[in-house]
Amino acid sequence: MIHRKQFQGLRLAGLVVLAAAHPLAASAFPSPDRPIAEIVSPTWSSGPDRDKADENGQIVRALGIRPGMAVADIGAGSGYHTLRLSAVLGPRGVVYAQDIKADYLADLSAEVARRKLANVRIVVGAPDDPGLAARSVDRAILVHMYHEIVQPYALMWRLAGSLKPGARVGIVDLDRPTHRHGTPPALLKCEVEAVGYRQVARRQLAGGVGYFAIFEPPKQRPRPDQIKGCAGR
Ligand SMILES: C[S@@+](CC[C@H](N)C(=O)[O-])C[C@H]1O[C@@H](n2cnc3c(N)ncnc32)[C@H](O)[C@@H]1O
Repeated sequence: MIHRKQFQGLRLAGLVVLAAAHPLAASAFPSPDRPIAEIVSPTWSSGPDRDKADENGQIVRALGIRPGMAVADIGAGSGYHTLRLSAVLGPRGVVYAQDIKADYLADLSAEVARRKLANVRIVVGAPDDPGLAARSVDRAILVHMYHEIVQPYALMWRLAGSLKPGARVGIVDLDRPTHRHGTPPALLKCEVEAVGYRQVARRQLAGGVGYFAIFEPPKQRPRPDQIKGCAGR
């Protein structure tokens, strides 16, 4: 549930960007033909196993993330990757810590303020819209969250409009059915490519933290009514 009071608090702190209403309704896009996982609290995700596996370092290297870039952490949750990306990107870079849960973002915003991280922007999105400005992002990561997106075709379509030329999108997930909090790799490829992206790499991450698929953005986005949905689990 999204709490307006928390939005206001974040807004007053000058940290929050709210997704603008979009002229295309989510209903213009196909709905996924498979279960959507329930949103789980992201507090599981700060565990030492991820550090031991160097999950963030593996993502940074595979996506060629460098100081000065603009990186969107879509579904940032408690900010496991946001906090580490902030250090990698440095003073001329920016991390857009994006989520649809204002209460998660309020906690992350407090942690960002406590650590005095000047290059993190908090972005409150909608299930079908990341809420990012046009052509503002060099790299986007979606880590252990794709299976929770209620409108994946709409969200990926709108995300494409926020990517700069040469941008890349990296998705981490587990190879299991969506109702078990993963996304089978073939289903992910089908859904994301249905929106016009092209998968350019996929491999298992070391340390058992999931697989990592990298996509290049569509050269031209299909019209929403041209998108053919995929069947899967
Ligand atoms: C399991 S947590 C993962 C958090 C973080 N990416 C990590 O790896 O630690 C999934 C997050 O995705 C968010 N989420 C679910 N659907 C979303 C959507 N359509 N757009 C943005 N975030 C979403 C949830 O609110 C939750 O914070």
